[in-house]
Order: sequence, then C-alpha cells, then structure tokens
Amino acid sequence: MDAVTKHSGISIESDRLDLFHEILLRRCNGELFMAPIGTNPQRILDLGTGTGIWAIDMARILILFLGDKFPSAQVLGNDLSPIQPTLVPPNVAFEVDDVENDWVYSQQFDFIHARYLAGAIKDWSRLIDQAFKFTRPGGWVEFQDFDMEFYTLHGDFAPGCSLDRWTKMVVNGLKQMGAEPEPGPKLKGWLKDARFINIHEKVLPIPVGIWPKSEEMLVGNPRRYKYFLLTSGKILKTAGYKCNTTSTWCTVKDLR
Ligand SMILES: C[S@@+](CC[C@H](N)C(=O)[O-])C[C@H]1O[C@@H](n2cnc3c(N)ncnc32)[C@H](O)[C@@H]1O
Repeated sequence: MDAVTKHSGISIESDRLDLFHEILLRRCNGELFMAPIGTNPQRILDLGTGTGIWAIDMARILILFLGDKFPSAQVLGNDLSPIQPTLVPPNVAFEVDDVENDWVYSQQFDFIHARYLAGAIKDWSRLIDQAFKFTRPGGWVEFQDFDMEFYTLHGDFAPGCSLDRWTKMVVNGLKQMGAEPEPGPKLKGWLKDARFINIHEKVLPIPVGIWPKSEEMLVGNPRRYKYFLLTSGKILKTAGYKCNTTSTWCTVKDLR
C-alpha cells in the first residue's frame, strides 16, 4: 500500500483512481492503450494496477473482440494492495506483488502496461529493465505517466502562487520518501537505456481547471480538486511541512 492509499482511506483512494481512469481514458480518446499490440495478445500484464479498472476493461475488450478467436488471452494485474474487486471477467486475474522486487514469471508477456505510477516507484530504470526482460521479442510495453508541473498554455500561470508552491512541496515530499515524482518526461530515456526499440512518445496536457471548452475534458473536475488536496497531506507531513490540512496551502480558489 503506498503512502497515498494509506492516507486517504481505501474507498476514497479507489474512487479517486477510478475517476482518474475515466479522465485519462477521455484524454486518450477512449483508447485503453496506444501501442499497436495487434489482434493476438495472449499475455498482458498491468503493473501497479490499483483498483484493476484498466485490467478489467482490457479483459472485457479481449472477450468482446477476440474472445472467440483467442479464448486463452489473459490479463494479469499486480499491486501492493489487494483493492481489486473479486467479481471480474474470467480472463483477468490479480495478484499482490511488489514490482520493485525480482520478477519471477515463468513466461514473457505480449504487452506490459503501466500507468500512473508517479510517486510510487523508487527505481524506474530497474523496473523498465525487468519489463524488457519479460516482454517477448516483438511485444510491446506502454508507460503512461506524468510530470507534476502545472502550467497554462499562454504562460499566465503565476510562479509562486499557492498552487505552484503546493506542487513543489509535493514533489519535494515524494523525493524525500525516495519515490520518483515526475517519471513522465524521463520514460523515453529509460526505455532507450533498457534497449527497447521503436519508441514512441506522446505528450498530452491534462486540464485541471473548469475552463476547458470540451465537456469531455471537464469530467470529474470539481471532485478532482478535493482529491488533489486529500492525497497530498501525508506526503507534505512526511516532508516536514507544518500544516494540518492541505487546504491551508491550496484553496479551491487557487485551483480555478
Ligand atoms: C496512482 S495508483 C495507479 C493505479 C493504476 N495503475 C491506474 O492507472 O489506475 C499507483 C498504484 O501503484 C501501486 N504500487 C505502488 N508501489 C508499488 C509496487 N512497488 N509494486 C506494485 N504496486 C505498487 C499502489 O498500491 C497504487 O495502487
């Protein structure tokens, strides 16, 4: 269980993760993945699966589109926390595992997926090395992750405002806890170092305010404010910042 999960309580954290799944899905035009994994993926692994929502959706897609042809296609999700549901499609399984330990799978995977592990993983190079070892030749990996910086497209975000200070404190807090807070921009280099080839990078801004014109991009935004504040409390305390509640630092007004 990571710090964030412990702090917020399982159900709030699960709700937050499922909401974020919806946000990311919409940001990716409804696509669960971008890698051209073909029509015959047999073994799929989802690292740090959280509530398992991605793995379950992926398993459903396999059944819907490939079930008749490839009934043996399987999705495996792992996580430190067993917060996944038990009523799931028959072609998905979950296991409690620490992805930073040595992987002991008996076979390689056709597709390894890892999303939103910012602030969770300490040694990304090692994680990606292990992903390389356990991807079959010709298989694919997809990492979707973040940097933590807020900005506005026209540069009017004021450095030093409460929101800016809050993100910097969270980033520092995560670093002090030994986790990499901003893996997104570093993924390409790590993948190269691990000897992956045919690497594609897509950078997508995610709106956090209430200004996007597209309804699609507005999904869950009011609730996201609350979650932004809730999830950072433990990190800030660990980093030694003296505040009882995160809202001391970052009011809803700042986030609009
Ligand atoms: C922010 S959540 C993302 C969940 C999921 N990937 C998603 O996109 O909805 C990060 C997850 O990584 C898990 N995690 C953190 N460190 C881990 C580790 N060393 N091994 C396995 N899972 C880990 C946490 O328990 C948490 O569920």
